[in-house]
Amino acid sequence: TDLATFIAGLPKAELHLHIEGSLEPELMFALAQRNRVAIPYGSVEDVRAAYAFSNLQDFLDIYYAGAEVLRTRADFHDLAIAYFRRAAADGVVHAEIMFDPQTHTDRGIPFAEVIEGLLSAMRVAEAELGVTSSLILSFLRHLSEEAAFATLEAAGPWLDRIAAVGLDSSEVGHPPEKFARVFAAARARGLRITAHAGEEGPPEYVHQALDLLGVERIDHGNRALEDPALVARLAAEGMTLTVCPLSNLKLCVVGDLADHPLDGMLALGLKATVNSDDPAYFGGYIAANYRAVAEARGLSRADLVTLARNSFTGSFLPPEAIARHV
Ligand code: ADE
Ligand code: ZN
Repeated sequence: TDLATFIAGLPKAELHLHIEGSLEPELMFALAQRNRVAIPYGSVEDVRAAYAFSNLQDFLDIYYAGAEVLRTRADFHDLAIAYFRRAAADGVVHAEIMFDPQTHTDRGIPFAEVIEGLLSAMRVAEAELGVTSSLILSFLRHLSEEAAFATLEAAGPWLDRIAAVGLDSSEVGHPPEKFARVFAAARARGLRITAHAGEEGPPEYVHQALDLLGVERIDHGNRALEDPALVARLAAEGMTLTVCPLSNLKLCVVGDLADHPLDGMLALGLKATVNSDDPAYFGGYIAANYRAVAEARGLSRADLVTLARNSFTGSFLPPEAIARHV
């Protein structure tokens, strides 16, 4: 079989996907119309042309503006179902979906609208596509600790339907230590823990995510490679890294996919996985990420199988469910 067929046929979990980052320009236009929200683009082509970024903040500015069209439970349902259809076509059998409640509650959208729309799509995805999923509530790190606590509080009625908390948005200047107490409170409520670290931020932020947040995996983690002692620790602890090749390329974390460190991570004994991050903005869903990095780095089929296996062992599924997938 050819590479694309092999990759699509490989059962995989997606561990790093921001649902707001799966908003395709076509759906953005449809929701802008449905909700009578003005958007600063004349056409779908205009939108795609705006998706040229030189760093994380460039992207975030456009990503938060795009999210303005999301207003009702039906919008969040439609957004998530569109993601699940694409993920299922790519061979995803389990997805752990990050959502950014503060992007919506700060615009007056009730937490309930956001999460009930996502939960209803998750039920449909399991029943109709056979894709299981869970939610990761992500705190926006450019906002305050107090705002993160308020978000955890707002999530109270749904905590049994949220697997984990995460930490995203502008990394540099917002170290994990800023959120140590919120993450301790989330852990005390039984939530699993992940955080973006080492995407643009220094290795010190990865150390902090481990020591101060108690993360069970690291989202991105690219810059951990600058610190050999940290690499040794991540390998010894079997820490999963949720790596996002096309995101890294579009946000200039790497200059060229030919220089992507994914296989280097595997060679160092790190449990790397491949994920799509914000596929509507970065040019492809999970299979496109596998294909692009496999071609650019000459990955073997054994490497691809390892990456897919790591996606299950690094998931927040219970051990019995992981055992069924690997
Ligand atoms: N929010 C959405 N995508 C993100 C990324 N790659 N890094 C930080 N915050 C994000
Ligand atoms: Zn991300």
